[in-house]
Amino acid sequence: MSVQTPERYWWKPIHKAERVWIGLALTWCLVLFIVMPMQHFFGKQNSTGEAYRVDPQAYMQFVLKWTDERKSGDVNGVPVVAVAPGSDAYLLAQMWRFYPILKLKKGESYRLHVSSPDLQHGLSIQPMNMNFQILPGYDHVLTITPTQAGEYSVICNEFCGIGHHLMTGKIIVEE
Ligand code: CUA
Repeated sequence: MSVQTPERYWWKPIHKAERVWIGLALTWCLVLFIVMPMQHFFGKQNSTGEAYRVDPQAYMQFVLKWTDERKSGDVNGVPVVAVAPGSDAYLLAQMWRFYPILKLKKGESYRLHVSSPDLQHGLSIQPMNMNFQILPGYDHVLTITPTQAGEYSVICNEFCGIGHHLMTGKIIVEE
């Protein structure tokens, strides 16, 4: 037996203030419902979802070879590849590094491929705050056109084990 009989609040009419809040929340939901697909189609900072199935080990071997053939220098032992404008650039996200360092030209477009040979990582480009997921088995292609010269940090923002905090990389954009 309960302490007292609950009142039948459910059958009371809704207070005017609550009606307003429900109305505001519903309107905002509808706005987001329309804006989100529009962001996908017209937004300039979204992935188009272009991705291909790839064997994780084959992707790694490909990027190592691709890098070896184009390497133009290194920063702290990490090879730097100057990518030809308009071509494909490859990035390997691996426990716990991004490989290689990519050198791009401002105003040129590139097809940036990202994948992983081991487990899920995050691709966070700073200070742009652009974030993408990297999954083994998927070659995720991001079409990018750098609009500002400078050095961009690449960090992993998906926890990937004991070396997660050390997993950083770099993209250099030249004038
Ligand atoms: Cu890779 Cu965290």
